[in-house]
Parts: sequence; structure tokens; C-alpha cells
Amino acid sequence: MESIEQIRVRGGGPLEGSIPVGGAKNSVLKLMAATLLAEGAYHLHNVPRITDVDLMSDLLCATGCSVARDGTTLRIDVPAEIEPVAPYEIVEQFRASIVVMGPMLARCGEARVAMPGGDDFGPRPIDMHVRGLQELGAEFDTAHGYIHARSQNLQGARVLLEFPSVGATENLVMAAVRAKGTTVIDNAAREPEIADLCELLNKMGAQIIGAGSSTITIAGVDSQDALHSADHTVIPDRIEAATYLCAVGITGGEITVAGARHEHMSMLCQKLGEMGMRISHDPDGIWALAPRRMTSADCQSLPYPGIATDFKPFLVTLLATADGVGIVTENLFSGRFRYVDELRRMGADIRTDSHHAVIRGVERLSGAPVRAHDIRAGSALVIAGLAADGETIVADADHIARGYDDLAGKLRGIGGDVIAE
Ligand code: UD1
Repeated sequence: MESIEQIRVRGGGPLEGSIPVGGAKNSVLKLMAATLLAEGAYHLHNVPRITDVDLMSDLLCATGCSVARDGTTLRIDVPAEIEPVAPYEIVEQFRASIVVMGPMLARCGEARVAMPGGDDFGPRPIDMHVRGLQELGAEFDTAHGYIHARSQNLQGARVLLEFPSVGATENLVMAAVRAKGTTVIDNAAREPEIADLCELLNKMGAQIIGAGSSTITIAGVDSQDALHSADHTVIPDRIEAATYLCAVGITGGEITVAGARHEHMSMLCQKLGEMGMRISHDPDGIWALAPRRMTSADCQSLPYPGIATDFKPFLVTLLATADGVGIVTENLFSGRFRYVDELRRMGADIRTDSHHAVIRGVERLSGAPVRAHDIRAGSALVIAGLAADGETIVADADHIARGYDDLAGKLRGIGGDVIAE
């Protein structure tokens, strides 16, 4: 994939037209990990061209699989034997790699996974993954920067998660698929990406019910032959869709986010409605009509179906130019306000105090050189540039390419002056 160093944005008029949304990054990475559970040829459709997919492909190849792309379809060939190791050189580049632990453990009785790296926002522990897998009978030790999980026979169990962690739920579901007996995960994460993963797993022969609710029940299939390869189409990326809805909220205008699913982002749509956007959904996607200036509102990030923490940089950016004062509260990750310093450099009036940000809307931002610290912070700065006087140059744009397939080109399609270089 072509590398991007920076994105250059010039502020302009309202956005108009239709913008397509691709497959969900946070789903496809887990679907790819799930293929490790059974030998065979898999076809995943609607796979975005993003760096994290390339990294997960590298990780699958390191275990012995082969991965080939044809347009938006990814073909994954999983051999009869895989090497259950996730090497540091790959894992350090993206945190989602931790989800190979569950399927490797289920398939091979062990997994050796380097301690994860990933986005630059605060500590992201994996204690719930480890504790949950221990309840299924796995044993852990760590040495030389690697976590080594072992269990020759996983046993179904009831696992109560302390918090509905997305990654821990996914790792546990994938391990429990091959356990002896039934596993019940209580306080499971309810994100649409989890339901998508379970849909693929069920096509592969797993027996999972309750995905998308807070209790997931997995009847283990304890014979290797009971699982087989399958094909699947990735759900649309609700975080990418949210980026475009907030972009039109900042510039004003009328857009259709083609392919987006309203039911995956109802709480955000409700909040945008409160702020003055007209939104409706039809079979083609989400239609939005935004006034020249939105009205401020307070919001807080919560586990699904609440407003996703990933939407927050876009909402803060939107509030930076809205009429009034809004308070945004982060309840999931500490340190997820680093992009605020960059927005301030563009003239935003934002004060942060621990996990709160108080945003006093200004009439107009002013273009400036800024830096992307992570995927969503980076795209938030791009959409800020759409409503800023003059030119904004977003450096470290390789972060953005981790999660967006041609962000600049897509925004140009609805009238944004955005160039990736
Ligand atoms: C996933 C998403 C990420 C999103 C997040 C929350 C992917 C690739 N990433 O991340 O974009 O922001 O869900 O919706 O799908 N925690 C622990 N111990 C653990 C696991 C998590 O303390 O063992 C904490 C985390 O530090 C965080 C919270 O739980 O404060 C939520 O994390 P989690 O839901 O696990 O997020 P991820 O799966 O890492």
C-alpha cells in the first residue's frame, strides 16, 4: 500500500453529495484472527485497504497462512498446521493483534503473543483477557516480552467480565468455541463487531447464541473437524461513517453516507439531531442535512450502545465550531485528549480536566500545521481543517491510513479540498 506522510486540507464551503463507507476495521481484524480456528480457504468481502489489515495479513502469514487480495475480497488459506506465535515486530505495530491469542490457544493448545503496542493513548491492559482465559483453564507465563498461554483442554465456564471489554469478549468467544462444554460470558461487550465475528464463527460451525447482547453463550465443539472455513461480508465501518457525519456537521451541507447503518450508531445520530442536524436512514445509508453552524451539547463516551470513545475526537472537533459550550466526558480510556492540543493550535477554545473537556465553540478555526497522534485523532484534525481558514497540514498521516481507505479522496468526492501526499 502507498504510504502517506501528510494530509493537506483547505477550508471551504459546505459538503454535498454521497460518500461511501468501507468495511469495519474493528471487525475485519477479528474476522481474520478467527480464520486461525480451522483449516481451509476463506473469502472475506468488503475488506478496506488499510494498513492494519496488511499488518494482520503479515501476522497470519507468520503463522503459516497465505493471504491474497482481489479488490475488496481477501482470500485466506489456513493450513492444517499453524505456528501459534505472534511475533513482536508485527504485534508492536497494532494492538488488535492480541485477539489471535484465543483462536491460537483453541486450535493449538498454546499461544505465544508479544505484549501489544498500538494507539498512543494511555495504558491498555489485558488483564481481563488473561483472567477470562484462565477461567477456561488456560495457564499463563510471561518472559522476554511474550505472553505464553497454554491449555491442552479448555473447559467451558461462566465468565463475568468486570467491564464489557471488546477485545476480552472476542478472545474469550474464540477460545470457548473449541472448549469442552458450555461457556457463558456475562457483561459481554455488545458492539456490532462482536455480532459480526460470531456470525462468521457460526458459519464455521460454532454454536454461539446471544452475540450483540450482554450474555453470550457458546456451546463448545470439541472436535477439530467440527469447524471449517466459510465466507463472510464485513459490516460497514460505523466509525468511518461517524467521521463523515461530523464533517458535514462542521462545514454544513447535505450528504449521504452510503452503506452506513443507522442502527449501529443510533446514539450518535440522536446526539447530532439534538445539535441541529437532520438525519434519516434509508436502505442506501444515512442522509444528513446540517446547518451552517450546529448547537453545542454535552456528551460522554460509553460502551455500546453508548457513544463510542472512537467518535469522541470528531464530536470535540464539531463542538469546537458549534454555537455554545459543550462538555465531553471520556469514560473508557485515559489520555485520549492529546489531539486537543492540536485543535487549540487551530484556534479552538478547549479546557481539559482529567477525563472532561469543556469546549467553547468559536465561529471559525484557523488552519495550522498539526500532528496525528492516532487514527481517529488524525481524521478529526482533517475534518477540523475543512472548517478552518487557510491551510491545515496534518503530519504523521500514516496513522490515518491504519484505519481509513482513501480518506482524502472520499472527502474530495463531496467537495472537500483534501490531498494526501
Ligand atoms: C476496541 C476497539 C477500539 C475501541 C474500544 C472500545 C478494536 C481494534 N479496537 O478496543 O477502537 O475504542 O474497543 O470501544 O476493536 N481494559 C482493561 N483490561 C483489559 C481489557 C480492557 O482494563 O483486559 C480496559 C481498557 O483499558 C479500556 C476499556 O477496558 O479502558 C475498554 O477496552 P476494550 O473494550 O477492551 O477495548 P479494545 O478491545 O482494546
